[in-house]
Amino acid sequence: MTQRDGYHTFDFSDLTPREAYKVMIGTIVPRPIAWVTTISPDGQVNAAPYSFFNCLSADPPILALGVENKPDRSFKDTAYNIRMTECFTVNIVDRPNVEAMAVTAAAFAPDVDELEMAGLTSAPGLKVASPRIAEAPVAFECERYLGIQVSSAREIILGRIVMAHIREDIIDPATCYSDHAKLDAIGRMGGNGYAGTLDYFDWPTPSAEDVLRNLNAPLTRHKA
Ligand SMILES: Cc1cc2nc3c(=O)[nH]c(=O)nc-3n(C[C@H](O)[C@H](O)[C@H](O)COP(=O)(O)O)c2cc1C
Repeated sequence: MTQRDGYHTFDFSDLTPREAYKVMIGTIVPRPIAWVTTISPDGQVNAAPYSFFNCLSADPPILALGVENKPDRSFKDTAYNIRMTECFTVNIVDRPNVEAMAVTAAAFAPDVDELEMAGLTSAPGLKVASPRIAEAPVAFECERYLGIQVSSAREIILGRIVMAHIREDIIDPATCYSDHAKLDAIGRMGGNGYAGTLDYFDWPTPSAEDVLRNLNAPLTRHKA
């Protein structure tokens, strides 16, 4: 690490994987959380949160998960089940479910149903074998699209969304607009931190003409 022009600079070729992880998770924030439910080949339900997560394409509808292998390089239950069953369900975490979500992150043995541990209930998938979490406000049923083994320690899993369940009060089915306040989703910060999404504001993208017209006007530095 060196200091230049008021910035600490980090050459990633000098960082340990742990240091790179800390630099990234502390600054790429807030990250949405995929609360992933899967089912093992013998029918054992599994749930765990993943914040290396986002939607990457709407046509086709693709989302991505970044799954770290266990220290001995074996697969986490989520990655193993997706590999074996070719499907998973991404549930969105809202504020009332933070504690339950944290319980499902504990390193239980593969034969433990994390939903039961967290007092949650599963509801069957309509198009996939993996169940959704009945208490979650939103769930996306996904078919495994592609797995990218970026190293022996990590895999990026792409899923194609085939079905969505969105609580009635959140989305207007006629316009497909969702009410972020009703959703009350949370995101992941660094360490054990989380952020709410109720500190929200609108800021429309200006046209290129508007930007050029106002070139000499000072920009508003938006402060909450
Ligand atoms: C909010 C949160 C986000 C997490 N994000 C990730 C992640 O992106 N990738 C990962 O490998 N583990 C992540 N974890 C850790 C896993 O949830 C944890 O290892 C879990 O036990 C894996 O369960 P499984 O073996 O049932 O898949 C996260 C944990 C929490 C609490």
